[in-house]
Amino acid sequence: MFRLFALLCFGVTCDTVATRNFRMPVNNRPIIGILTQEVDETVMQPFGNSYIPATYVKYLESGGSRVVPIRLNQSEAEYEKIFKSINGMLYIGGAANLVTSDYAKAARVFFQLALKANKMGNYFPLWGTCMGFQLLTVMVAGENLLSNTTAENLALPLNLTEEAHSSHMFKDFPANLLKAISHEPLTGNFHHYGVTETAFRGDEKLSQFFSILSTNVAENGAVFVSTMEGKQYPFYGVQWHPEVNRFQWHPKKQFPHSSNAVRVSSLLAEFFVNEARKSSHHFASPEDEASALIYSYTPVYTANVTSYEQCYFF
Ligand SMILES: *[C@@H]1O[C@H](CO)[C@@H](O)[C@H](O)[C@H]1NC(C)=O
Ligand SMILES: *[C@@H]1O[C@H](CO)[C@@H](O)[C@H](O)[C@H]1NC(C)=O
Ligand SMILES: *[C@@H]1O[C@H](CO)[C@@H](O)[C@H](O)[C@H]1NC(C)=O
Ligand SMILES: *[C@@H]1O[C@H](CO)[C@@H](O)[C@H](O)[C@H]1NC(C)=O
Repeated sequence: MFRLFALLCFGVTCDTVATRNFRMPVNNRPIIGILTQEVDETVMQPFGNSYIPATYVKYLESGGSRVVPIRLNQSEAEYEKIFKSINGMLYIGGAANLVTSDYAKAARVFFQLALKANKMGNYFPLWGTCMGFQLLTVMVAGENLLSNTTAENLALPLNLTEEAHSSHMFKDFPANLLKAISHEPLTGNFHHYGVTETAFRGDEKLSQFFSILSTNVAENGAVFVSTMEGKQYPFYGVQWHPEVNRFQWHPKKQFPHSSNAVRVSSLLAEFFVNEARKSSHHFASPEDEASALIYSYTPVYTANVTSYEQCYFF
């Protein structure tokens, strides 16, 4: 055991990080998987069957991670092999059925693998943005608790809960930025559905699994959960879009671009990549790693047909 540890440290790094439950060597070459999503908008259909907005890739790269796109419709054995090769996973926003889509099916496979791994002390973080947040609630609750919480093209401050101040997600935020995120519209919302605070707190599975870190008020007055983190597991969800603050520019969209908005986006990207540094999963060989990374794909210009400047298609 000691020998193995020494070998892992040699030539890489001998730092250790305190994870939630144990200490392990830091992986300073993290790779995060992004699950692709089926193309639903007809404007994107000419380009491919599935896609990832380049925004999410840039977001993770900005925190010091590399990205592997994960295609839909693969076997569980293939997904397990990928799972053992990557250090975390991000579920993107978009539009797909949360139970029956190929996206949801693949997401569930990774969710179960991550749950099992973390239970055994094999640290593996998950992040869900917007629809990815919604998907996490469906997978944890085992049912769809979403209702109309429309906040479409609306930048809002967060109403932070008391738990936010002792949370993992916000622990590296300086006091002045926590104050700014509570008062300035730094979080872009682009959703029709969400989980109300009442539905969330009323569901035993959800409220035992996740702490609510912030809430917001929807256009119809409903109070919805906007940020959450796992109590025991490194699973994180935002109903809003931290990545747009730095990487999307459509002039008709309320993408927050102030310097505080940029800092919020940077700190959360760094936070999640730091979580991935606690995972020691790796590809079987440098060749396998190179062929899986997103670098061999070229993003396509889509600003003329969507509010994403660039997307990867598969
Ligand atoms: C996945 O497989 C289904 C059923 O064969 C097919 O309809 C769908 O287009 C495939 N999805 C992708 C993204 O290729
Ligand atoms: C923020 O949430 C608290 C309860 O957590 C509530 O009492 C308060 O009214 C909310 N403020 C806003 C501006 O929504
Ligand atoms: C949600 O509520 C808003 C405001 O009441 C309404 O305008 C909208 O049509 C509703 N959306 C859905 C999907 O039901
Ligand atoms: C949008 O731009 C792409 C890339 O330049 C081009 O292939 C496509 O035809 C354009 N679509 C429209 C509707 O202008």
